[in-house]
Amino acid sequence: MIPQSFILDLLNRIDIVDAIDRYIPLKKAGANFIACCPFHNEKTPSFTVSQSKQFYHCFGCGAHGNAISFLMEYSGLSFTDAVSQLAEYAGMQMPVPMAVPMSLPDSNGGSGSSEEFVQNQADISTQDLNQALQVAAQFYKSQLKLSQKAIDYLKKRGLSGKTAARFGIGYAPAGWQGLSAAFPDYKSEQTRSILQQVGLVIVDEDKQYDRFRDRIMFPIVNLKGYIIGFGGRVIEPGEPKYLNSPETVLFGKGRELYHLFSARRAIREADRVIVVEGYMDVIALSQHGIDYVVATLGTAITSFQIQRLMRQTDNIIFCFDGDNAGRKAAWRALENSLEFLSDNKYLGFLFLPEGEDPDSYVSRNGKELFEQQLTLATPLSEFMFKELCLDINLQTSEGKARLIHQTKPLLQQIKAPALVSILLKRLEELSGINQNQVVGLMQLKPLLKKTNTQQGHLARQLITPYRRIIMMLLCRPSYLEKLDRELLVECDETKQEQGALKALVDLLDKNLHLIESPLTHSVLTYFNDIPHKALLESIESEVLKWDDAIDLEVEFMGAQQLLQQVQRNKRMTELHSKSLAQLTDEEKRELQQLTSF
Ligand code: UTP
Ligand code: MN
Repeated sequence: MIPQSFILDLLNRIDIVDAIDRYIPLKKAGANFIACCPFHNEKTPSFTVSQSKQFYHCFGCGAHGNAISFLMEYSGLSFTDAVSQLAEYAGMQMPVPMAVPMSLPDSNGGSGSSEEFVQNQADISTQDLNQALQVAAQFYKSQLKLSQKAIDYLKKRGLSGKTAARFGIGYAPAGWQGLSAAFPDYKSEQTRSILQQVGLVIVDEDKQYDRFRDRIMFPIVNLKGYIIGFGGRVIEPGEPKYLNSPETVLFGKGRELYHLFSARRAIREADRVIVVEGYMDVIALSQHGIDYVVATLGTAITSFQIQRLMRQTDNIIFCFDGDNAGRKAAWRALENSLEFLSDNKYLGFLFLPEGEDPDSYVSRNGKELFEQQLTLATPLSEFMFKELCLDINLQTSEGKARLIHQTKPLLQQIKAPALVSILLKRLEELSGINQNQVVGLMQLKPLLKKTNTQQGHLARQLITPYRRIIMMLLCRPSYLEKLDRELLVECDETKQEQGALKALVDLLDKNLHLIESPLTHSVLTYFNDIPHKALLESIESEVLKWDDAIDLEVEFMGAQQLLQQVQRNKRMTELHSKSLAQLTDEEKRELQQLTSF
């Protein structure tokens, strides 16, 4: 939808070093800039950004791309959103087809005929909606200063003025049309429509009134930093205690997480995130110096939200109330995470003592004790069996069978090999049924297939390990000696890249003299009719874009390791697809060996 010319223009206008440095601090290293890779766990930096070539590359995980793909990966934005955020940063106007520039609150929407109204409605842009929410938030903030009642309430709850300001907390006054003070043309059809679309007013036949009245207002911000909705709390006891914005084009409760935008840096630094249930929990924790915290928006956490968090850190701790509702919420979180777990992810579940929530706990006990509690969180594997065994009598055979039965749909979703092994082992201890047998019973077929989301990143998919190995061999044919030949045995030659790798290795094998002395030009020039020539050439051309600073050997070994893992996983999937009875002794041994990786 966005014209190619605009994207090229944009990429020309911005500097990738600047763009990335706003999210992760880059250090100059020779011609390039480096940092610890945000896309995988590492202690020494292998994430490299080239200013001259305007791309990034990670030698550890192979993540690779430009400023747009960085933003998509890092912030979890769609392509369009990433482009629009960069455009804003570069001061470029996004091309919006058919949009007539129009601004709030001085639009002239209401003055025209109904024909004009139809016309205008079609013209309402996302920008108008964002702006309306921004204007409303400002208004609520100014109203808070005027309401002693609201200020007293926040003080009573222990909030400092600084915290209230940091979270943009406001107050919606008690009248039915309080917002008309912020929107002079509140009643115009144009503004009414905008306010209705963002959920700030309710239109009922010919009546129009504010949704939020006499409530403490918590603005909800998306990953671009825009306000997209509000939560509003009553001051005196009343129902509902919290009123949230309805689902709108901008706001989806299953997508957004309260405080995620502001917490990103803290999450990276702590390399963990706490998920709590309430706005006030987030705010209290943050005020006590624990800023790596987000809240769901009154619904169970969705798999979309979990994936969003997993992009920021490998460690998620769900901190819910110890009551029934809290345990239920935790179980839903577990169910919605299973599919996205990998072996480097940690999910913990922390239940506070009866009657406490994170807000009350941290206010009473302080930061240190709260963080100490975090270390005592129950890991997913333990929480899962704890809950499953709650109403099962494991003394009976039926109970054991039931446990297997109930574990099956859960295990089937997990694609993290080591975690599955651990769970199987635990299941064997609990049920007394041999884990190989359990594997057969559960038909854990898709077990080890990596999904796109798990493999993680667009960039990593673009450069397959086969492609990376080909690149390295083209750059340094002498690496042929370091090549693990086992990898070629499993090559599927019907796949282009795998066929190309085999063809290249075959030819190099037959022309070892080429390897002995350093080449001054491409090895491909020596072969006239090598199969897959076009593909090899295109891979080679990508090499040219690389900086000299790249440590080819590290890259080569990294790619090999990745490929070994891919092939092991493939073999495991094959073996798991057979029932236990079908497996030969040798295959069983092989499976055991594969699982131990
Ligand atoms: P809680 O009822 O656990 O309250 O709601 P809390 O967070 O401890 O709030 P305080 O301390 O009494 O102010 C947790 C979350 O559930 C949603 C809100 O998102 C709230 O932050 N909720 C709760 C609603 O959406 N509506 C409600 O009526 C209550
Ligand atoms: Mn509370």
